Amino acid sequence: MKPSTADNLLHLVGDLDLVAVGLLAEAFSESGGHSLDAAAFGQVLVRRELLTGYQLERLLRGEHGGYFFGRAKILYQIGAGSFARVYRAIHRDTGAVLAVKVLRNRFANDPEKCRAFQHEGEMGRLLRHPNIVAIEDVGQEGGASYLTMEFVEGQTLRELVKIRGAVDVAKALDLIHQAVCGLEYAHRRGVTHRDMKASNVIISSTGRAKLVDFGLAGVDESGDKMLGRVEKPRTIDYVALEKATGVRDDSIRSDIYFLGTVAYLALAGASPLTESRDRSVRGDPRRFTQVMPLGTKCPDLPRDAVDIVSRMMQFDPIERYQTATDARVALEASLARRAGGAAEAAAPAASAARAPAKGAAATKGSVMLVEAGEKAQQALREFFTKLGYRVLLTENPQRALARFLGTPVPADFLVISTRDLGATAVEAFNRLSTDAYLAGVPAVLLASPRQTDLVAAAKVDARRKVVTLPLQQASITSAIDEILQRTG
Ligand SMILES: Nc1ncnc2c1ncn2[C@@H]1O[C@H](COP(=O)(O)OP(=O)(O)OP(=O)(O)O)[C@@H](O)[C@H]1O
Ligand SMILES: [Mg+2]
Repeated sequence: MKPSTADNLLHLVGDLDLVAVGLLAEAFSESGGHSLDAAAFGQVLVRRELLTGYQLERLLRGEHGGYFFGRAKILYQIGAGSFARVYRAIHRDTGAVLAVKVLRNRFANDPEKCRAFQHEGEMGRLLRHPNIVAIEDVGQEGGASYLTMEFVEGQTLRELVKIRGAVDVAKALDLIHQAVCGLEYAHRRGVTHRDMKASNVIISSTGRAKLVDFGLAGVDESGDKMLGRVEKPRTIDYVALEKATGVRDDSIRSDIYFLGTVAYLALAGASPLTESRDRSVRGDPRRFTQVMPLGTKCPDLPRDAVDIVSRMMQFDPIERYQTATDARVALEASLARRAGGAAEAAAPAASAARAPAKGAAATKGSVMLVEAGEKAQQALREFFTKLGYRVLLTENPQRALARFLGTPVPADFLVISTRDLGATAVEAFNRLSTDAYLAGVPAVLLASPRQTDLVAAAKVDARRKVVTLPLQQASITSAIDEILQRTG
């Protein structure tokens, strides 16, 4: 039933557990809720940021489900594809931002599709790599299959090209190299993508490329009539390519081909294949044999970049790179040549920069500090600068970890303060010992002696230490020496 009075809405929101009861009651009494209708009280809750506009619209329509998927609370929709919708959400316990992908309603009554979606989700969940969007949870809620994943702040490569046109060569090669690294990792674990395309490559705001949707889109098109039943569901584009070249279930080399089309799009600003939603167009083999060669389309592109993309996109699978590793090695050689050229050009400036500036303090190295409070940030910055470190500051522990997942690493070690961040700080600190890609990051957790629970929850080892506040030069210096494994 649709809520009509503020009181109706208050009860609905409370029953659904969307907002803590205390905050609801406070908003109700402070806004004179007794005299408001549901919509007006809803606006009060939105202004107080207790509800999002999306949640309110659904509440006012009297919808009772779809606010939570597992531990994820849906905030609003961010996108929709052919078989699923994607939402921005927040984890009820940790407050982490998540993306939730929910299979469309029309699949809800198709148990086979739901099973396939969940199966692919579970397979994807095993993949943990900086160039793959991490899946956190796979499940069913109110009859809908969903998966929750890491939320990537940024845009898809498709959106990037649509807005800005072709990507410059160095950046495009870097992005494709990152995507190939993700693909290589997954292939080595027996997982193929089967829907490689520019909208499934998300570029984070820090420039990291991440692959999303391993195995998922094929669920929509499994058991395609063109090839009969196949073990691994994949998109019609894959089926058409494999049929045209006379191979079946050739997902690894097909992934390489379609990543080649993504590289082509990035470098040329236009897709090499006719784009269409029409299955008969997508299934037509001429789509693959009538591609304009990249070198013809963009004659000014460097030869080696053109060669790599052309090799990825060879129609005959034997002529393609046979593995993602081969493609990665070729890309790395090209990137290294480019870096070599750039270093030579920049050499005079670089040597000038190495000359120590008069009066500058010698630096012992660099530290990334994670602290949310402004005053405490200032104090920490001064403290570490005095000790001789170059200081980088951030408020967000997840962002700090994301920076350490990149290359080059942003600092020699990490200092995370629990002062304002509490359990979130400890959670990030503990991820250092559970995430294989962060295992080498030395870190110090700063905690007050009163935060006994937090200190007890922190995972310490040779590279990770807890130092109690207030900061003392002797204790922090010896902790840093230990985690950096400096001797003498
Ligand atoms: N983990 C994520 N973090 C942030 N945004 C995401 C995430 N996953 C998906 N998105 C966004 O949601 C949009 C929709 O994704 P979805 O996979 O449903 O569709 P698609 O890939 O564009 O198309 P199709 O369903 O046809 O494959 C994406 O374009 C992207 O902008
Ligand atoms: Mg997608």
